[in-house]
Amino acid sequence: MSALPHGRIHNFSAGPGVLPLPVLEQAQAELLNWRGAGVSVLEMSHRSAAFETIIGEAEADLRALYGIPDDYAVLFLQGGATLQFAMQAMNLRPAGRSADYILTGAWSKAAFKEAEKLGPTRAAFNGESGAFTYFPAQSELNLDPQAAYLHFCSNETIHGVQCKTEPVPPPGVPLVCDASSDFLSRPLNVSAYGLLYAGAQKNAGPAGVTLVIIRKDLLARTPDKLPVLLDYRLMAENKSLYNTPPCFSIYLVGLVLKWLRGLGGLSAIAALNAAKSGLIYDVIDRSGGFYRGHARADSRSPMNVTFRLPDEALEAQFVKEAGKAGLDGLKGHRSVGGLRASLYNALPRESAEALAQFMVEFQRRHG
Ligand SMILES: Cc1ncc(COP(=O)(O)O)c(C=O)c1O
Repeated sequence: MSALPHGRIHNFSAGPGVLPLPVLEQAQAELLNWRGAGVSVLEMSHRSAAFETIIGEAEADLRALYGIPDDYAVLFLQGGATLQFAMQAMNLRPAGRSADYILTGAWSKAAFKEAEKLGPTRAAFNGESGAFTYFPAQSELNLDPQAAYLHFCSNETIHGVQCKTEPVPPPGVPLVCDASSDFLSRPLNVSAYGLLYAGAQKNAGPAGVTLVIIRKDLLARTPDKLPVLLDYRLMAENKSLYNTPPCFSIYLVGLVLKWLRGLGGLSAIAALNAAKSGLIYDVIDRSGGFYRGHARADSRSPMNVTFRLPDEALEAQFVKEAGKAGLDGLKGHRSVGGLRASLYNALPRESAEALAQFMVEFQRRHG
């Protein structure tokens, strides 16, 4: 099996996930003295010119990659994607109005439940009785034309279900998206969204920072007197520097964004991602039923490939043998079981090839 540099393993972790090796190497090289500033990014003031450069470049690179229009603000927040579940409801749902949620897996359900604690919330679709295997067609959505917003999760990390074309909300209803696990994995038309958010720790960088892209007119909905860290408008007015931000995480996100631009941007990474996940889905499809994919074929995620084996004992055996072969992080989420291979942007193609080869050999030995 091919070896990776520095004795690194094939890392299929669902998150925090693998980071690009050149990014880690650059962070290591710059750790003691960032660009001649004489200090590490870990030690510099978030009010310094150096940090202004770091956060400014990160925002500019994100804007360039996604083609983010000027009428959108970019925020670097804390609290993970989980805090966004509450923040979106607190900021975007005026008193007495209901918000619509498309439930396609554990994460959109978690967002729904959090919003439900805070006010009227409605399911425009609920795929739970079908074990969350697919993203619905537009015709399957039961949309409220008066909704404060329509929320969906573009990639259900636990179920391995991806939305291929974003749902279309009723006129005037902003679309809100949890893109945590496929952020920066493919081009998107940002103008279709009111709010797009993602915890960084899968494709964008390390844990500790959450990226938020919000249409500026929606900031007017933020009610007065929200706690400061829950207030989108205040965070936007202060360019994410109202208080001390997660400086080092933002710096690493900036390095990842530059790495992506160097690779050719989001279309280029989308092609690489499709090729990597194609290797694994091919093995599943050619296995004669030994491997069974969880997601319906039209909703398969290139980021998180979820699959089962004929029984749980074999699944445990697979994880054990894979671990010995240097393939790590393949156990499925405890709520779904089975196996999950997370193939984020930074996962080298060799790792996907190694897994595909291992799967074929495992079936030969145990099939
Ligand atoms: C799609 C999705 N949404 C939300 C979350 C929660 O993110 P966090 O742990 O950053 O709060 C996760 C975490 O894995 C996720 O995959």
